[in-house]
Amino acid sequence: EKGTYPHYMLKEMDEQPTVIRKIIQAYEGDNGELTIDAEILEALRAADRLYIIAAGTSSHAGLIGKQYFEKMAGIPVEVHISSEFGYNMPLLSEKPLFIFITQSGETADSRQVLVKIKELGYPTLTITNVPGSTLSREADHTLLLHAGPEIAVASTKAYVAQIAVLALAAYVTARANGKDLEFDLKQELAIVANGIQTIIDSKDVLEDIAEDYLKIARNAFFIGRNIDFYVSLEGALKLKEISYIQAEGFAGGELKHGTIALIEEGTPVFALVTQASVALNIRGNVKEVAARGAHPCIIAMAGIDEDGDRLVIPHVHELLTPLVSVVPLQLISYYAALHRRCDVDKPRNLAKSVTVE
Ligand code: F6R
Repeated sequence: EKGTYPHYMLKEMDEQPTVIRKIIQAYEGDNGELTIDAEILEALRAADRLYIIAAGTSSHAGLIGKQYFEKMAGIPVEVHISSEFGYNMPLLSEKPLFIFITQSGETADSRQVLVKIKELGYPTLTITNVPGSTLSREADHTLLLHAGPEIAVASTKAYVAQIAVLALAAYVTARANGKDLEFDLKQELAIVANGIQTIIDSKDVLEDIAEDYLKIARNAFFIGRNIDFYVSLEGALKLKEISYIQAEGFAGGELKHGTIALIEEGTPVFALVTQASVALNIRGNVKEVAARGAHPCIIAMAGIDEDGDRLVIPHVHELLTPLVSVVPLQLISYYAALHRRCDVDKPRNLAKSVTVE
């Protein structure tokens, strides 16, 4: 099924532009506009607060989803890790809607929260890649990711699909609430699909970066500010999972409050620069680590790039940058794992779906 590909992970990363295009098609109404099921839209509009519950990569997608619902639709959102939420529930708002994000739809940590929330009688929505999965069957509503089966243990195309579907749901909700959004999400997602393709077509650059920065590294840092911070968390998780390099995702400005002590001569620091509003700040943070000997790799978006940036990624709408900026991080992890002779599709100690609590 992986055809001529050496690994499922590579195949699944390559599929990402197609996944975005499939999502656009799947959520296109008769009038050509993006739409979601009327009952789900009602549930989203009725909520005074959204509680996103997820684990691992899916929780990282949730952090981006929070930005979308808050910035586009003006609905407050909390993001919680399933394994914590189940045993340490925060105070809830009056009309919460619970959104479970789960590629597999089978994650036990997330399911146990769903069971408790149903007992409390609150409405639930599952965003999943697997129709008929446990969390899809047990929630009131389901939004599908349309990413196709994800086989590699490290989640790639499902993460991108989760972010796209969250953007879409937030956009449709915002429009239904009469918010004046000054962009056409359908068009912007099409631009994203092309942007991802451009990165995929220049894989050799990412292979070089992996060799250059990570072939013998003991640890690595991923930094960003604003939405780039959340993508940094995902970049670090990917690297840990498949290359076994200790990695941390960090908010650029927070490093100096302790973690900068770990920077040594040659420590790789991957910095994302996609948000114009904080570009100068994150570049300042890169200078701080470089002054302490770090080996910085700046990944900047076209338009706010500067001389000396290691990689320039195509320009997309500022809210949608995670869909594009995560792709080089996925590819860098993949090639780092290959350079270090790790089993990319089946990393040690991990299973594709974690069905125990
Ligand atoms: C990371 C990864 C895991 C999953 C997590 C949740 O690459 O695959 O962190 O994201 O176990 O799984 P789902 O989304 O199936 O609930």
